[in-house]
Amino acid sequence: MMKFTLPKLNASGVKTRLLLVGVFEKNFATGPVAGLNSSCEGSVALHAQVEGFDGKAEQTLLHFPNAKGVAAQQVLYFGLGESGKLTLTSLREALTAAFKRAKQLKVTELSIAQIPLDGTGISAELYAQTVAEYAGMVDYTINHFKTAKGGHKPETHVTSLQFLADDETAADSKRGLEAGRLIATAVNRARDLVNLPPGVCTPTYLAEQATALARRRWSITVRLVQRDEAKKLGMHAFLAVAKGSDQKPVFIELTYAPKNAVPGKVLGLVGKSVTFDTGGYDIKSADGMLTMKCDMAGGAAVLSAIEAIAALKLPITVKAYMAATENCINGKAYKPGDVLQTMAGLTVAVDNTDAEGRLTLADAIAFAREVGGVTHLVDVATLTGAMLGTTADVGAGSFTNNGAWQNEVLAAAGSVDELLWPMPMWPQLKKGNNTPMADLKNTGGKFGAGSSTAALFIAPFAGDTPWVHLDIAGTAYRGREFGADPEGGTGFGTRTLIALAKNLSEAK
Ligand code: BES
Ligand code: ZN
Ligand code: ZN
Repeated sequence: MMKFTLPKLNASGVKTRLLLVGVFEKNFATGPVAGLNSSCEGSVALHAQVEGFDGKAEQTLLHFPNAKGVAAQQVLYFGLGESGKLTLTSLREALTAAFKRAKQLKVTELSIAQIPLDGTGISAELYAQTVAEYAGMVDYTINHFKTAKGGHKPETHVTSLQFLADDETAADSKRGLEAGRLIATAVNRARDLVNLPPGVCTPTYLAEQATALARRRWSITVRLVQRDEAKKLGMHAFLAVAKGSDQKPVFIELTYAPKNAVPGKVLGLVGKSVTFDTGGYDIKSADGMLTMKCDMAGGAAVLSAIEAIAALKLPITVKAYMAATENCINGKAYKPGDVLQTMAGLTVAVDNTDAEGRLTLADAIAFAREVGGVTHLVDVATLTGAMLGTTADVGAGSFTNNGAWQNEVLAAAGSVDELLWPMPMWPQLKKGNNTPMADLKNTGGKFGAGSSTAALFIAPFAGDTPWVHLDIAGTAYRGREFGADPEGGTGFGTRTLIALAKNLSEAK
């Protein structure tokens, strides 16, 4: 766990292994930490020239200061781009580059200074939050099972980060650091859950994690709905998906209801929680199945988001839902052609057992509305491979029954630099979901627009509750590093949900 300290900006006593100094383009010799490393400014200019470092965004320069009078063993200058053009987005990119370079150096203790923020619209608190958030997210290493016996050497982590602040902003910076730490912890927890092998991260395991969370955070309570109770509630679509698995399904509800919550608002977060998706009898190819441990990434996002929301003590009631199950095959497994009852009372014909996510979401959303009494809904789901054809692994699709609510979700995502794009919900696309056998069928067939027909399938279950569906099939798990995300589970959606809860708690 990363520890933060806040020594004074110009305290000459500050000693550090590596000092990170953000500098603007072509103006890097001066800065708020000049006093800390003034003795090496001349050599920095020369070194920068040699290395071609001119402070452009995402450039870094590792400098070895003269030992005398210098508090840092090494200084890592990181480019902020043109002065006057700094945005939160470019700051995040600059910090990502800086922390990645520090990670390559296997530095465990580092220091970072404030930067001039005048005219950027970024407060001292938000700067400190961003530092802690990105330091924490970049510090992540995958929760692998490599051993010393197999020749593995343990990874290094940043154990201490000194944030050099001036007196006036120290209190704000401290608050920001704490918020950033909590947010990064949430993202990293979501990544861990996604990366766990499917034999470990079972529905029961998710229920245990939810229970442990409620024990850790007294402001959160948990309710576990087991198969028999789910049957009584009429959640037959969810249970149909679970039929082919030896792992017990469990429906999880987490509630955070602080005393000072804004009245009249209950934010419902539903996360697809299929802990492994074989496709069922409509079995996936080996290639398609390989990464399907990631099919609970939506659940990981809502679970970790609600914990951060509680830890940040946001004054809003939030409920998180996970219909946790595997989608496997045995003699009891559901089959193409089956007709299912749902909790909402609509009937569904199974066209394809691999379109299981929308079946679990249908009942989860019905529960959130009917039992949970949520007033605003967001579901987060690795729902359709078709998403990859639209946004690749870069962004996620957003679908809604309420433009104003979607705008709030898009704004929250924009504020944390998670890419979302609104997708069509044209009524003309609905006919893909028609069948002579039931109210709905669970695929759009050969009709096309697979991500939209999936969203249109869910829509009737959301009814008139403002609802946004985020299809994160492209972004939940990547085969490559991307920005501050490592290869593998990304925790995508977690930060959007936290920002959304914050905004909603502040809105009139
Ligand atoms: N879990 C998959 C979607 C998915 C694909 C997530 C790739 C992450 C990466 C989902 O359950 C699924 O299999 N969807 C089918 C739906 C189809 C049968 C209508 C798909 O996308 O092919
Ligand atoms: Zn599937
Ligand atoms: Zn799936």
